[in-house]
Amino acid sequence: MSKVTIPKLQEMKAKREKIAMVTAYDYTFARLLDEAGADVLLIGDSLGMVIQGRPNTLGVTLDHMIYHSHCVANGTRRAHVVCDLPFLSYHASHEDAIRACGLALKKGHAEAVKLEGGEEMAATVKLLVSMGIPVMGHVGLMPQRVQQMGGYKIQGRGKEAAKKVLNDAKSIAQAGAYAIVVEGVPMELAQKITATLDIPVIGIGSGVHCDGQVLVCYDLLGMYPEFSPKFVKKYADLGQGITSAVRTYIAETKSEQFPALEHSFSDKS
Ligand code: KIV
Repeated sequence: MSKVTIPKLQEMKAKREKIAMVTAYDYTFARLLDEAGADVLLIGDSLGMVIQGRPNTLGVTLDHMIYHSHCVANGTRRAHVVCDLPFLSYHASHEDAIRACGLALKKGHAEAVKLEGGEEMAATVKLLVSMGIPVMGHVGLMPQRVQQMGGYKIQGRGKEAAKKVLNDAKSIAQAGAYAIVVEGVPMELAQKITATLDIPVIGIGSGVHCDGQVLVCYDLLGMYPEFSPKFVKKYADLGQGITSAVRTYIAETKSEQFPALEHSFSDKS
């Protein structure tokens, strides 16, 4: 088992070896996803929805992110661990951004941070990178801007909009980001971004041509029925599996089939 590092991810792009990234929010999931061979575990601010039950990611705080990041780091051996910076934790000032990254890396034990934004965030990214903070960018559909977008809508459709997303991606790469998430853009645009940038481009809802893919673990495992967009492939139906297992436990408890003798202690055993 060799640890996935930033140079390793860049080498994977060069060798056209696809990068598999998935979100994780706690120790047990991190251990399982790491053992399965995920290259990157992202503590996504999507935890606001799938863990906290909020309608979007906007209410997630830095404290929430750090708590979950530490849990994930405890369960990870091989994967590269990235912590999302939540909404407005890195916008007001460069001091805020540095402080948020410091907490994510020192208290959250993440190996890198991810932040949403295009050209307007390039100066912040440049400063963070100059201080030795590894930054993953996130352009295209930026969930922290859901109110401005009027919903989770595909971005970069049409010549002008595509030019803007490409320019955003280039600005973040030039500022020194080591990788970038491109979310919710047409696959032709994602292909162009992937071919243009030297850094790994991780797609979500952006087609097959990216250097890698990321999905929310609860989506791919079929545990979050509230959200099933076209780009999500369900690899299991654990939601049904959990409900059915717990129904059986409840029934057996009520009918006194559980606990059986083998689950019980006596004076002799
Ligand atoms: O918050 C998140 O989970 C994300 C990914 C899905 C890219 O940003």
